[in-house]
Amino acid sequence: MDPVKLRRAIARTRLAPVAAFPKRLVAVARHDAKVLRTSARWLVASREHHNYTYELTKLSRSHLAWFVSVVCELPVKQVRGYLTEIESDEALREHISSAIAGAARRGLADKQVRYARRIGWYAIVRARRPKHIVETGVDKGLGSCVLAAALLRNAAEGHPGRVSSIDINPEAGYLARTAPWSEVIDLVIGDSVESITALDRPVDLFLHDSDHSRAYERREFAAVEPKLAPGAMLLTDNVTHTNVLAEHAERTGRRFLAYRETPANHWYPGDGIGVAW
Ligand SMILES: C[S@@+](CC[C@H](N)C(=O)[O-])C[C@H]1O[C@@H](n2cnc3c(N)ncnc32)[C@H](O)[C@@H]1O
Repeated sequence: MDPVKLRRAIARTRLAPVAAFPKRLVAVARHDAKVLRTSARWLVASREHHNYTYELTKLSRSHLAWFVSVVCELPVKQVRGYLTEIESDEALREHISSAIAGAARRGLADKQVRYARRIGWYAIVRARRPKHIVETGVDKGLGSCVLAAALLRNAAEGHPGRVSSIDINPEAGYLARTAPWSEVIDLVIGDSVESITALDRPVDLFLHDSDHSRAYERREFAAVEPKLAPGAMLLTDNVTHTNVLAEHAERTGRRFLAYRETPANHWYPGDGIGVAW
């Protein structure tokens, strides 16, 4: 029998999955072997145990530029310029790398500076020139430094701003305590919902990146709502896990869009940026 006709005949029967099994096995084995190789390499080469850092794939970086372009209504070329700006900020790279090398918990951090989706945060700050950003969840302070670098550039162009970076852990933010970045960062140690409630300045840009439980994320957006300046933008780092910001956007009559990052050479599937505006 003609092999094509035979394949078609088998495809109509219950034997089809059995006949296709070797091909399916090869496909899944190839995929899993790649994940295993990447994971094994990471286990040996990296020291990180949470809040992983990595570069984005070229495609993911390109999609991020378009994402920011749509959300901020800017030509994509200008956004690409902002991404290149933060990636080539050697003073910031040097600061992060040497601060990590001298940190008390250096045994659990990598010296290589990798911003992942945070380059998107940078571009958004450059595009929108907020006077006051609130970032909840600081960890080492990598995101705070990226936001501060954007604020410093904005200030040099005549648009000053500050970031309130809030973390419950008193040891958080060691990267954010060095000038010139520290000059635009107000590091707040405390529970984020309580600290947001105590804010006495309007918020132009809000970023949730603290306790990632659904209930807590909801509480943060509810707490910040009365503090927002007109036209403020809301971001979440939790968009690949919850629909909290999308629901908040719908309730408050905003638009919503999500970007999912793809890490290069990392086993971690990546996070994303959710935006409501
Ligand atoms: C994912 S890390 C933040 C990462 C950081 N934004 C960055 O760019 O690397 C989450 C942080 O949230 C903090 N956190 C957890 N619960 C919190 C709460 N209730 N209030 C404030 N910070 C909290 C943790 O201490 C931790 O440092």
